[in-house]
Amino acid sequence: MLVASLPGDPGVGAGLASHLGLEVLPVFSRRFPDGEIYLRFPHVVEGGEVLLVQSMYPAQSDRLVEVLLALEALGRYGNRVHLLVTYLAYARQDREFLSGEAASLRSIVRAVTACGLETLVTVDAHNPRAVREAMAGGRYLNLVPGEVFAEAISRKYGGRGISVVAPDRGAADRARELAKHLGGDYVVVSKVRDRVTGRVEHDLSALDSARDLAVVVDDIVSTGGTVASIASYLTSRGVEVVVAASHALLVGDAYERLVESGVREVYALQTVPPARTGVTYLNPVPYIARELRREGIVK
Ligand code: R5P
Repeated sequence: MLVASLPGDPGVGAGLASHLGLEVLPVFSRRFPDGEIYLRFPHVVEGGEVLLVQSMYPAQSDRLVEVLLALEALGRYGNRVHLLVTYLAYARQDREFLSGEAASLRSIVRAVTACGLETLVTVDAHNPRAVREAMAGGRYLNLVPGEVFAEAISRKYGGRGISVVAPDRGAADRARELAKHLGGDYVVVSKVRDRVTGRVEHDLSALDSARDLAVVVDDIVSTGGTVASIASYLTSRGVEVVVAASHALLVGDAYERLVESGVREVYALQTVPPARTGVTYLNPVPYIARELRREGIVK
């Protein structure tokens, strides 16, 4: 198997290649003067097996186009492609919330699978069930790296009474998984979003049972608003708060918002480029490598 990293990959492809002892397949990409993307694999491989790695943030739409171009170029030579997307963009609009809306996730997944894939692998996708449905039978694997966070958090906070907090019902599986690895309990906050204004209301009463240290776990931290409202509530009750975010986009002043709400530390995976200092970025490569082997994707 060969590993090819697309321009959005923040280094996971190179890490996997060295961890798994795989050869790297170089990718060349540039822009045409009008902004369109050109992509080429200078060493043509025929009938091979390729692990294609991409993160779809930032510049989500360009990152998607790179995936589509790469799949076409590899597929034309009869290669079998396993696509590892460390951050799947457009994933939160996973259905039609208001009539007439595009269900963006479906469009993205269908576009990618239509290009021909052996396997789609995501790292902590927002709604893996919706991805699986959109795949319509194709092979799909979602990796939930609870143990990567648990290892780092236990090293520092081991021995404390820990509660893992899911900011909404969609994060319950993620929280359960992390709590299992940390040996703590977990609570799920209920969230209601006004689909027209986008305004979010939380019922925070579930947090009253939180223990001494709360680990707020989320797939994406974008503006930081979701985590900050939970952290403010917890810190005002004397609970210490750390954040475990798979994909720390940290748009604008999101990090400052977290700090102001009392968050003591933010852990994030290197699935998107590091947004800023102060965040502890964890390397997901050893975990992903092991899962790819376990699933037989890498022999
Ligand atoms: C939404 O359901 C996601 O899981 C995250 O909770 C959300 O994207 C966080 O966004 P923000 O940081 O802007 O509140």
